[in-house]
Amino acid sequence: MTAKIINGREIAKEIRKKIFEEVTKLKSKHKVVPTITTIKIGKDPSSELYLKLRDNACKEVGINSNHLEFEKNISEDKVINAINELNSNVNIHGILIQYPVPNQISQDKLMSVIHPKKDVEGLNPYNMGRTLSGDEHIIPCTPLSVLTILEHENVDLKGKDVVIINHSNIVGKPLTALLLNRNATVAVCHVFTKEIKQYTSKADILITAAGIPKLITKDIVKENAFVIDVGIVKTNEGICGDVDFNEVKEKAGRITPVPGGVGPVTIACSLKNMLKTYKNCLEGT
Ligand SMILES: NC(=O)c1ccc[n+]([C@@H]2O[C@H](COP(=O)([O-])OP(=O)(O)OC[C@H]3O[C@@H](n4cnc5c(N)ncnc54)[C@H](OP(=O)(O)O)[C@@H]3O)[C@@H](O)[C@H]2O)c1
Repeated sequence: MTAKIINGREIAKEIRKKIFEEVTKLKSKHKVVPTITTIKIGKDPSSELYLKLRDNACKEVGINSNHLEFEKNISEDKVINAINELNSNVNIHGILIQYPVPNQISQDKLMSVIHPKKDVEGLNPYNMGRTLSGDEHIIPCTPLSVLTILEHENVDLKGKDVVIINHSNIVGKPLTALLLNRNATVAVCHVFTKEIKQYTSKADILITAAGIPKLITKDIVKENAFVIDVGIVKTNEGICGDVDFNEVKEKAGRITPVPGGVGPVTIACSLKNMLKTYKNCLEGT
């Protein structure tokens, strides 16, 4: 049986439509245009494309998106001062940091300085703590994207065996919390996991974000599993994910493609978070 292929572009389109409607209502009620600033440090070609796509998406839903650019060798203190100014600027409703940041700058430090109410990425320790404790407010965009896909497919997570291949702060850790909050049984794999097949072959839902092409082959996937591929890798054959799509789709029940799966939903989830930070600012919370 061939798997159902999840159309992330369609899901993203539905999300954008709802956000556009809500943003339009709020703008006309409060006469305030939602405005988001992205801090860019140096130039990274791989993040330029993502930024361009996100800026276009912002425009489509009526969110004003601008960039604050710094040279690659800027000091951490100067970036922190800039964040503090954005925190107190009433005309800015959300702040993002474009990754990767250069080595002299701590990503965690920057995230901790962003005011929680303006934290579009949901990576500030306060928002991460809320996600962990089950009091979810602003959820990191990529885990939110995975959850959105599962909800769109009406998956009841209670008691499901879920395997996540990734234990980064932006993907695996918050995603684990979201799934535990919904009573799934979660195993998290990473490079030190002895044999990932031992876990993946039992997974009702397999979520992979390793950034390794063809890491997930048919033989290590459970029959009828829901396979969600977060990985994005540029290869000579174009953009691909972690999953050997052509063979795994013959065994899985549902599968997300790359491109056109998790990626567009993640951008739409970033807009969802921008709407949240805008509302936080309007409400003064
Ligand atoms: N689609 C989207 O919207 C979206 C959003 C964000 C990221 N991504 C993509 O997702 C991937 C991961 O991003 P990230 O920022 O989380 O990267 P990361 O910090 O490098 O995380 C990769 C994770 O995969 C694990 N891993 C790597 N090789 C493995 C292997 N052979 N077996 C088992 N685990 C392995 C790593 O373990 P260790 O930490 O132990 O090395 C780590 O936990 C990248 O391809 C990125 O482009 C996609």
